[in-house]
Amino acid sequence: MSQQRTRAEAGSALFDHVCGNTTQQTASVLSIPAEEFVDEGRWKLEIERIFKKLPLILAWSAELSAPGAYKTLEIMGLPLLISRGADGLVRVFLNSCTHRGAQLTGQERGNCNRFTCPYHGWTYATDGRLIGVADKAGFGEFNHQERGLRSLPCVERAGLVFAVLTPDAPLNVEEFYGGMLTEIESFNLQDWSWCGSRELPGPNWKIAFDGYIENYHFATTHRTTLAPYFISGVMTFDTFGPHVRVGAPSASILASMGSAPREEWQNYENNGYEFVRSIFPNVTISVLPEHVHLTQIFPGNTPGESITLLSFLRQRPPQDEEEHRRMTEIMDVTLNILRTEDYPTNFGVQKSLQSGLLDSVIFGRNEAANQFFHRCTEYYLQEQPEGPLPVL
Ligand code: FES
Ligand SMILES: [Fe+2]
Repeated sequence: MSQQRTRAEAGSALFDHVCGNTTQQTASVLSIPAEEFVDEGRWKLEIERIFKKLPLILAWSAELSAPGAYKTLEIMGLPLLISRGADGLVRVFLNSCTHRGAQLTGQERGNCNRFTCPYHGWTYATDGRLIGVADKAGFGEFNHQERGLRSLPCVERAGLVFAVLTPDAPLNVEEFYGGMLTEIESFNLQDWSWCGSRELPGPNWKIAFDGYIENYHFATTHRTTLAPYFISGVMTFDTFGPHVRVGAPSASILASMGSAPREEWQNYENNGYEFVRSIFPNVTISVLPEHVHLTQIFPGNTPGESITLLSFLRQRPPQDEEEHRRMTEIMDVTLNILRTEDYPTNFGVQKSLQSGLLDSVIFGRNEAANQFFHRCTEYYLQEQPEGPLPVL
């Protein structure tokens, strides 16, 4: 079933599912061959046809709020430099000097009014123009305009920075994100404050991602940490192109919403039910009561490796020591649950699938976002994706 309910309608459906001890389901169980997670050829194709062709979310606007702010990122062998120019525009560059290729900066983030290459001292404006060549006369003549930083298609919308990792490739975020973009836009995340980021090595990117889009595992994997706060295995799914809004009931849903009239249930988001937005191919966004949490999972150096980046926004910067401590605690606890509960399990999955003796894994009718994610991956792996997108 493919549908796109309002958030209040999804919240209402979650309430009914909890009352009836049901959950939204797909038509059947889906089997995925183990080799789809471990085969090197397929993994390379995923990078080429998905990660280097489709728009990706690379940063929060709030991470780069002031002109001159920048951050670096190394993903899939690409050293990237994301910079907000003096003109206020965000651009994504290769973090590489166009003289002989040195990395322009090794800093994870910072603010500057020009980038100076550490090798021979060439300088670039924050909009990528080459503005200074050391010993210009000695170096000799060349076209400076052609030696600006190598840039990638990029656009800033809804408080996020989107890019395509192929120079000159088309980037149409309205088309690719559709209603999901409108929904994220409604949170005005560009006005929020970035509080910090955390990083975590993981197994194959799809194995890691699968853990973020279902709560069926909460009762066991997160028995003492998350399970007391959520009802495991109950979800709603609303698709927007290849993206999904996954709804989940909190443990308090019956108590908090049961006594309120149904017309008021739209007010119970984050006080009865909440949503994780699965943004194809590798991002989840959770808008929680105290903060917003972005997860980006990128393939690592081999099919069995990935890197997870977590970053956190708060509606306003922590105002005092206590708010600061609270936010740091949220970030560390989130990282810790993933590091000690999810990822050890996920590395185990990786080993099993690599053993060659487990032919396939199966995704249940209740693991609908996972089924949809794998079917969308298959869809975009076509040389020229054609025909309608899979439906949930
Ligand atoms: S490599 Fe950057 S100035 Fe030479
Ligand atoms: Fe988990």
